[in-house]
Amino acid sequence: MSLRNCYQRSALSFQHHWDMRAHERRWSKIFIPTWDVLPSVQLVPFLVLSEVNVDKLLQVPEYETICQMLSGDHNGKFGISEIEVAHLSWLGAQVPAGGDVVEIGSHRGKSISAIGCGIRAAGKQGKVRMFAVDLWLKGEGKTFDHYASEETWEIFNKQIESVGLHDFIQTRMMSSAKAAEKRGKPIHLLFIDADHKYKSVLQDWQLWSPFIPVGGYVAFHDFGTRFKGVDRVINEEVIASGAWEDISVYGRVWSARRIK
Ligand SMILES: C[S@@+](CC[C@H](N)C(=O)[O-])C[C@H]1O[C@@H](n2cnc3c(N)ncnc32)[C@H](O)[C@@H]1O
Repeated sequence: MSLRNCYQRSALSFQHHWDMRAHERRWSKIFIPTWDVLPSVQLVPFLVLSEVNVDKLLQVPEYETICQMLSGDHNGKFGISEIEVAHLSWLGAQVPAGGDVVEIGSHRGKSISAIGCGIRAAGKQGKVRMFAVDLWLKGEGKTFDHYASEETWEIFNKQIESVGLHDFIQTRMMSSAKAAEKRGKPIHLLFIDADHKYKSVLQDWQLWSPFIPVGGYVAFHDFGTRFKGVDRVINEEVIASGAWEDISVYGRVWSARRIK
């Protein structure tokens, strides 16, 4: 690992650690180090709580409601953290009118709500199509029980309704592979957050990324966590391709923009 990578990794862990302990804090009041703002190797140990990098964060009017949404294990709220909500909203706001968003792995609907409210905040509601792909009830016996339960499906619908997105999100209750087969149009924001095993993340990347045009964004959840397959795909496929720039990491969301 190069020195630069090494410092990037430590900063990421710091950020991740900070974010995970910040559940009760407001992200807007803290300094959030990201790759973009790392000033130099010498300064890394002295990052202070004096600045706010809000470059790629958007606090939508529904922010508090979204932050209270259920996500992750045990009906908690931190499957998608506060800073991740703000970054996903920012990503949603970048999608051009006439563009499409596809989320692979929507579970109880928190991340797609953050994206959808970002689209609305940017004045593009109804002009950007959103597709939420998940096995939901069809995952029985294939995914975790809480992924496939009737209750999860009901919560998904209730949560997206609570932020007025029910009419704007098209659901695809099917496997990622099946949905990719049916896809024919460009995707301007792709969020991958389904099965986190290496082979599955790789398959999602291979099936879906060709739909992203230059200027479009990809984001992965669970970067820098115990799900090493996510990091491996990002390092070995996405970064190695040289086709992506404008890389950001907020919480466990890794995102980048296609340049070629
Ligand atoms: C970590 S959860 C997604 C969390 C969600 N993004 C949120 O906002 O909380 C992963 C989801 O991926 C779905 N999933 C797993 N494997 C899948 C596959 N092969 N195709 C489609 N969805 C899948 C599961 O049903 C589960 O709901």
